[in-house]
Amino acid sequence: MQLIVDGKTHEVDVEDDMPLLWVLRDELGIKGVKYGCGVAACGACTVHVDGVAVRSCQTVLSDVEGEITTIEGLGQPEALHAVQEAWIEHQVAQCGYCQSGQIMQAASLLAETPNPSDAEIDEAMSGNLCRCGTYPRIRAAVKTAATKIQGA
Ligand code: FES
Ligand code: FES
Repeated sequence: MQLIVDGKTHEVDVEDDMPLLWVLRDELGIKGVKYGCGVAACGACTVHVDGVAVRSCQTVLSDVEGEITTIEGLGQPEALHAVQEAWIEHQVAQCGYCQSGQIMQAASLLAETPNPSDAEIDEAMSGNLCRCGTYPRIRAAVKTAATKIQGA
């Protein structure tokens, strides 16, 4: 099966019902996508399919229709996505484990809702858990990213 991930086309030879998370990590070596719970309850594995956030641990390969973007393709070191810039400015990460999923969720939110209210941010981010409790910095960084995107 052919997959487009982070702008590159890959041919993968796996069972159709393999979760996308395992395809990305084990077949394609994209370790920026994290395994947290495996049951769509933590958000650590969040990637985009055609810009929409999905939980890759509970998305089987045969259900993927569209281009996949992971944290490794959202931006590049020399051209970060506005959400990544904001995350750095606010020093959001603590241990960092949940953060690629948080960033992908936030980027998807801002693509759909460029100027979200606090309530909209909290609702959109509510399925992304952080054991380190970085939630206040996440909310602040989402607002900064929104400002950056609107000013771009
Ligand atoms: S690993 Fe997918 S939601 Fe937790
Ligand atoms: S930064 Fe440690 S789990 Fe979120």
